[in-house]
Amino acid sequence: MKNVVVTGGAGYIGSHTVLSLIEYGYNPIIVDNFSNSSPKVIERLEKISNRDIKCYNIDCCNKDELDKVFKENDVFGVIHFAGYKAVGESVKLPLKYYENNLISLLNVVEVMHNNNSNNLIFSSSATVYGDPASVPIYEDFPLHVTNPYGRTKLMIEEILKDYVKANPDFKVALLRYFNPIGAHESGLIGEDPNGIPNNLMPYITQVCIGKLDHLNVFGDDYDTIDGTGVRDYVHVLDLARGHSLTLKKMEEINDNLLIYNLGTGKGSSVLEVVHEMEKVVGHKIHYVIANRRAGDIATCYANCDKAYKELGFKTQYNLYDMCQSSWNFQQKNPNGIR
Ligand code: UD1
Repeated sequence: MKNVVVTGGAGYIGSHTVLSLIEYGYNPIIVDNFSNSSPKVIERLEKISNRDIKCYNIDCCNKDELDKVFKENDVFGVIHFAGYKAVGESVKLPLKYYENNLISLLNVVEVMHNNNSNNLIFSSSATVYGDPASVPIYEDFPLHVTNPYGRTKLMIEEILKDYVKANPDFKVALLRYFNPIGAHESGLIGEDPNGIPNNLMPYITQVCIGKLDHLNVFGDDYDTIDGTGVRDYVHVLDLARGHSLTLKKMEEINDNLLIYNLGTGKGSSVLEVVHEMEKVVGHKIHYVIANRRAGDIATCYANCDKAYKELGFKTQYNLYDMCQSSWNFQQKNPNGIR
């Protein structure tokens, strides 16, 4: 079994990806400092997969510690999820974002290089497209970012493009995620934000469970089907599988730079998500139309033909499944993963 280091493997997308890697016959090794996740996630992953999972409590900014992981294991590849991701915080504390996200990436690449590990998947984001001139968004659209968080994603993409040019034996895949929601069907792992959620789905489930009074819908005067923002929500289990398919592809081909959108290719408005969740919970959800959120765009959804043609990436879950599994996770973990 090939060893795959998953940085941020205890996080939301990372934990689901660990399970997918196991299904696809890889041996995941988690590297996480639990700065935004709970060590309990590891126990839960072991329970779901019914096996031991190796985990190192390490900050990727610590190069020597990271190097030990590669000295102790023969590492085929790395999926680098670890990083700060709160847009608003990044605007207030840009240096925190540049320092953490860039240094950890540089360390990962250097340590991989020193240990002859040559396959890297980087968690990028649809945020690199900024406000696109049109939708759906294709991978060759111009890149433009509007906040420090997004800029770390774009800067890392550029760093890795330079790196593969200089190192033709090193393979990189940039996966641009649209809006992951949903959770594993066990309800043992899922999105577990600290404090009041920034993102739509955890906010809605916390309203449904009574922790928050109502959802603020950020604007109903966009040029969209019902005036509310439209996004490409993708089930985290589909997204996780996209990583395993990408690794398989990297084993087969010689190209050393792969770039894919991972979404569903379909946009849903905020109110469509709310109404789908109402079907799941069986009652109306209290929402209030609020002002637009600074930096938001009207519409963002992917064209995913490239991932379909080249990776065989086809999503299996619809919006109902995403809402149902998010709600299942929220109900089973009213206070998060404790
Ligand atoms: C956000 C980030 C994006 C990041 C992604 C990671 C911003 C501007 N963008 O994407 O860079 O890659 O998270 O998960 O923060 N909404 C409400 N009420 C809420 C929360 C959200 O109406 O309480 C609306 C938003 O206006 C938007 C949609 O729901 O139309 C989705 O919002 P969100 O889940 O925060 O994702 P993005 O903004 O698309």
